[in-house]
Amino acid sequence: MSIKIGIIGCGGIANQKHLPALRNQAHRAELVAFCDLIPARAEKAAAEYGAPDAKTYTDYHDLLADPAIEVVHMLTPNVSHCEISVAALEAGKHVMCEKPMAATVEDAKRMMDAYQRSGKLFTIGYQNRYRPDSQTLKRLCGDGELGEIYYAQAHALRRRGVPTWGVFTDKSKQGGGPLIDIGTHSLDLTLWFMDNYESAAVTGVTFEKLGKTLPAHQQGNGMGPWDPDTFEVEDAAFGFVTMKDGSLITIDASWVLNSTEERCAASTLCGTIAGAELTGVGGKNNGKLYLNKIMGNRQVEIDVNTAAGGVDLFPGQKASVGDVEAQVWLDAIEGKGEPVVKPEQAFVVTKILDAVYQSAKTGRQVVFQ
Ligand SMILES: NC(=O)c1ccc[n+]([C@@H]2O[C@H](COP(=O)([O-])OP(=O)(O)OC[C@H]3O[C@@H](n4cnc5c(N)ncnc54)[C@H](O)[C@@H]3O)[C@@H](O)[C@H]2O)c1
Repeated sequence: MSIKIGIIGCGGIANQKHLPALRNQAHRAELVAFCDLIPARAEKAAAEYGAPDAKTYTDYHDLLADPAIEVVHMLTPNVSHCEISVAALEAGKHVMCEKPMAATVEDAKRMMDAYQRSGKLFTIGYQNRYRPDSQTLKRLCGDGELGEIYYAQAHALRRRGVPTWGVFTDKSKQGGGPLIDIGTHSLDLTLWFMDNYESAAVTGVTFEKLGKTLPAHQQGNGMGPWDPDTFEVEDAAFGFVTMKDGSLITIDASWVLNSTEERCAASTLCGTIAGAELTGVGGKNNGKLYLNKIMGNRQVEIDVNTAAGGVDLFPGQKASVGDVEAQVWLDAIEGKGEPVVKPEQAFVVTKILDAVYQSAKTGRQVVFQ
């Protein structure tokens, strides 16, 4: 029997990732309902990707009321993640929620409560975990090749990369700027590589220097000009996170920064045996993984061929990250394995990012109990 899926939010990420990936799972899943506040978006998605009798809605409650729907993909702006995911879990659906889990730690707590009460599966769309370079580095960390990782940097630096579709610069809908938007991916990766979710304290600083002031003709934005008058979020943010075992993670995140360095969903790991540089997405050094260590009393850097042999933890697969994400998720729904992205892990990402914002606002360190 085919898994019946409902889509809530039929905008950018639905069309870029979820809908094409789910179409590639048509042998075991069908898209039976689509909801968007803008009816034309739901109708277009239904026509392109839906089952022949797929329904469309503008109110997500109506979609959730259909008992035939087992799984919901929740693809709306950040601030709505909590309300809609909680309602979906309470309606007895398995939920794939786009990243970040939530806009605030309070929202994330409500989602964890609903998840724990529901007995349903819940995951977050951190697809960077399925990149071949990320998978390779995760395996190396798990095998102890780096030793104890005691210092790490989570990088999400764009020089001029303000998203100009959707509501990304609207604080009331997204909760923040580059930190919550792309910092969330690199922090998720870094915590996962370290397999360390025990954070102790956070200090953060955010800047609002360029987004609100640069006129269109001086922006040079890769995604077209943004409107400074509606730019309500930070344009860069930095965090300093100490962990309970004494290790340290720094976070850098920007959409607009006068820097030649550009790397997103990237991570630097320093361990007692070796170090690793995951160069991430974008910039001049896209998609590379370097290890550094001492061999024969010499400093060496190893350029790891991560393309060989498919996606490392999923042998034999050479699929897009969206395809692997959908495959792992539907496997879990069919009882064949667990979701790779656990809600407990995504919760810690939101907890730390929320603390960076709190610290930046108050000028004080946030200490966790
Ligand atoms: N995984 C990734 O790398 C990635 C990339 C881009 C966006 N995202 C995430 O996806 C989410 C959506 O981003 P996007 O780029 O698709 O934005 P978008 O604005 O292009 O699409 C969001 C859609 O949701 C609809 N919507 C808003 N509120 C709704 C509601 N209450 N009920 C039904 N529909 C509603 C909007 O009308 C819009 O069509 C965000 O949380 C963002 O962080 C993730």
